[in-house]
Amino acid sequence: MLNSIAVMTSGGDSPGMNAAVRAVTRTALHAGVKVWGIRGGYHGMLDEDMFEMTSKDVSDIIQRGGTFLGTARCKRFATPEGRMLGYKNLNDRGIQGLVVVGGDGSLRGASIFSKETGIPIVGLPGTIDNDVWGSEYTIGSDTAANTIIDAINKLRDTASAHRRIIVLEVMGRNSGYLAMVAGISGGSEYILVPEEEYDLDEICEDMKESYAKGKRYILMVVAEGAGKGNEIGKIVAEKTGLDTRVSKLGHIQRGGSPTVIDRVNASRLGENAALAIISGLSDIVFGFDRGHVVSINLHDAVNNKKKLNPEFMRLAKVLA
Ligand code: F6P
Repeated sequence: MLNSIAVMTSGGDSPGMNAAVRAVTRTALHAGVKVWGIRGGYHGMLDEDMFEMTSKDVSDIIQRGGTFLGTARCKRFATPEGRMLGYKNLNDRGIQGLVVVGGDGSLRGASIFSKETGIPIVGLPGTIDNDVWGSEYTIGSDTAANTIIDAINKLRDTASAHRRIIVLEVMGRNSGYLAMVAGISGGSEYILVPEEEYDLDEICEDMKESYAKGKRYILMVVAEGAGKGNEIGKIVAEKTGLDTRVSKLGHIQRGGSPTVIDRVNASRLGENAALAIISGLSDIVFGFDRGHVVSINLHDAVNNKKKLNPEFMRLAKVLA
């Protein structure tokens, strides 16, 4: 059993990270284990920016987006020297295990760190992209999808008023998950994702036919990994001759107060992570499978590419 652990958030922030850190901290304190908070992702580990946390340190944060610990993408941690310095800094404080809340890249760093140093590490999937293999869910993806739907609802009003085509570019890095779920729930006519080929000529012909039949407006959601909204919008305008506008949500979709789903899921994952790391387990990521919390091998999680549910792709076409 470990008696001192640390928790950090890393990579792009996501709504619900605070709820996860709160759950890790309070579960560990409840078990009589010391908890350190590392500020600014792996930077904090290298720069010795860590503090021992009390229950009060994590009060008043469950409702907040972002991450009160701060986060970063840390180039220095990508080097063996950087990782050895991080390990020394943890050792100096008697920290025996680490919980990392982050996306694909952060968990990959954690996997290498645990392999090289042997320090126990438990990961939690924290990213709006929902691209961590082995889990159907990542912390923040629900809030981000809801933010996108809110934007879609507003875009529909103005698109309908002007009989326009609206192209909306959303985040997701190489994953089409956010575009797909937001597109389906927002009633979008076309959803472009990196996981599926598309033919813009065909789509434009289809758009013209729809307008000829009386369609008032069209909404196309483009995952950033499938192409740039601006470029696609330009082509659509040229090929259809129809009034077209492009919107890019950008970092708005990464902020905001987390939804109930993100708060509850992050809390459940955080509790599991704390209990696991305290009992000396390592190299696992906690995620969800069919609504249940499951543990996934950390190295499998980072070495496999998550696929977009084909059911979503089929449904999107049927309902368009
Ligand atoms: O991984 C989360 C994410 O928001 C991606 O969807 C996006 O591609 C990227 O981070 C943006 O990174 P940054 O905040 O560094 O611009």
